[in-house]
Amino acid sequence: MKALVLCAGKGTRLRPFTYTIAKQLIPVANKPVLFYTLENIKKLDIEEVGVVVNPQNKGVFEETLKDGSEFGLRIEYVVQEEPKGLAHAVWMARDFLGEEDFLMYLGDNLILEDLKPFVKEFLEKEDIQASILLSPVKDPTRFGIAVMKNGKVIEVVEKPKVPPSNLAIVGVYLFRSIIFEGIKNIKPSWRGELEITDAIGYLIKKGYDVKGHIIFGWWKDTGKPEDLIEANRKILQDLRVNRVEGEVDDSSKIQGEVIIEKGAKVASSVVRGPVIVGRGSFIKNSYIGPYTSIGEDVIVENCEIENSIIMDKCSLSDVKYRLDSSILGKNVSIRGVKSKPSSMSLILGDLSSANLPE
Ligand code: G1P
Repeated sequence: MKALVLCAGKGTRLRPFTYTIAKQLIPVANKPVLFYTLENIKKLDIEEVGVVVNPQNKGVFEETLKDGSEFGLRIEYVVQEEPKGLAHAVWMARDFLGEEDFLMYLGDNLILEDLKPFVKEFLEKEDIQASILLSPVKDPTRFGIAVMKNGKVIEVVEKPKVPPSNLAIVGVYLFRSIIFEGIKNIKPSWRGELEITDAIGYLIKKGYDVKGHIIFGWWKDTGKPEDLIEANRKILQDLRVNRVEGEVDDSSKIQGEVIIEKGAKVASSVVRGPVIVGRGSFIKNSYIGPYTSIGEDVIVENCEIENSIIMDKCSLSDVKYRLDSSILGKNVSIRGVKSKPSSMSLILGDLSSANLPE
């Protein structure tokens, strides 16, 4: 069995970050979202992985993942020239996939569930032509939705206005090569995309066996900033690691589960876990509160931060208010200044946002 990981999406809802970083490479607990996906694939004993990229982000994926050997995988890259939908991405990968069964994984989905039973059932029961991972959600209009009867999927619909069920299609699918027949027979949806949901719908209509596998554990489509904050919280909470390899001075307090990487320094500060502080970062006279990930080479001086993702090389000093639920991209600088007039001076790129205390 092969795996196909889809990373060609533009990530418009995650701008401005996605102007400079592919959304699947945004770090959660200091590790790109996509790395969790690749680790999950490895756990399923799949070795050959196709990563679908777009012409703009191809280089960065090749540089980051290389040939996949660091993950114990063999990675090939497939270019999807235009954003024409998930089914189109699969179609572009038809040479890589050949006639083999495959696992399709949306690269921005974080799933903590053990996927082995899902895959095992598909491999054992040859009648099943497709199997989709499903999860009950509160906001079914945001997802592809499935209707089940006796373990079989009898209807699928992409982002319905009036949802026929609350079972969302999680971004992990298992297909046999018959899916290509489905893809050949569908038309672009209202959003101009060839939807994989419609290709699955075609299989159902033709009477093929489509299985639904419901999970109740935590998963997240990290499509929006608030999803990243929540994913960061969940991953940090589950890490359950206490590892202080950097320097912490005697006047600092480390509380709860905290990772301070080698080469990081903490001085006269309180770090209350779960928190991770990356290599080369320096925390001075500050409070780093629960659910915060601080990347590499970050400087934090006279600040308070909680529940946030601070990426590499940021510099924060003398900020009067506690930062909460914030995401700072690489090289962001925030400074409190004493000079008059007492005012705010903001230099924000396109689509940045700032919520300030009144
Ligand atoms: C895609 C699929 C949708 C699925 C979702 C899961 O939506 O089209 O069926 O429920 O991923 O994350 P998109 O993220 O492209 O809006």
